[in-house]
Amino acid sequence: MHTRTVAPDVTALSSIVEVPTLGHLAVNAFVLTGGEPMLVDTGFTPDREAFVAELGNLIDLGDLRWILLTHADRDHTGSISELMQEAPNATVITTFYTLGIMGCGNQPIPPERTYLVRDGNEVNIGGRRLRAFRPPLFDNPGTVGVVDASTGVMFCSDFLGAALPSADDGLAEDVADVKPDELSHGQLVWGSVDSPWVHVASPERLQKSLTAIESLSPSVVLSTHLPPVRAGLEDHLHRLATLPAMSPADLPDQATMEAAAAVLHDEAT
Ligand SMILES: [Fe+2]
Ligand SMILES: [Fe+2]
Repeated sequence: MHTRTVAPDVTALSSIVEVPTLGHLAVNAFVLTGGEPMLVDTGFTPDREAFVAELGNLIDLGDLRWILLTHADRDHTGSISELMQEAPNATVITTFYTLGIMGCGNQPIPPERTYLVRDGNEVNIGGRRLRAFRPPLFDNPGTVGVVDASTGVMFCSDFLGAALPSADDGLAEDVADVKPDELSHGQLVWGSVDSPWVHVASPERLQKSLTAIESLSPSVVLSTHLPPVRAGLEDHLHRLATLPAMSPADLPDQATMEAAAAVLHDEAT
């Protein structure tokens, strides 16, 4: 578990996951202080013990008041069950869809500990004015992002993510520290893999959604799967606007994995 300050009163808790054939994918959650303590997502499921321990080093879990759950995927809900127990004063901010999906599994969220938001809501929560939005790219229909209007910090969930060549890339202080060609490749592949529907989406409608993000003028954009974007957001948006016209990225099948294993075996002998 890696921790670093990524914006005033915002600390990232990060795991790095090595994804075969893709690269190193950061899984970031964020702790907000400076108001009522709030957590944005709850980490990668296999790292949940370390996650809760590190979170407890940063804040008293009894003081954790809000957990924004951007969607119900396993890299965002890792510690939710533990935190429902160990952070008894926390209320989960999420969407109706995510509440329902969580209720279908073994990590249900009690409705009385839930605060529902949807795209376009503006809510005052914990001393912050949060605007909820649906990111332009997402892999789960329950996905919600938020902008903290008081600071301009945007939390955009899976959107903008990229698997990168090294763990150090995934933990960079600023996405500008990543080599441009590696960032571009990783972001386009991730966009295709995480949101395969983008290849049948209307380019015009995607562009409208990307422009809406730019119009929010965030001071920093914090993705679950990318180092902080502090400048040049328009470059990321222009890049992702090309996705509908691109061919879908190929993910490995059994033959690919066996061929890769054979190469490794030959190199070892
Ligand atoms: Fe996801
Ligand atoms: Fe994710």
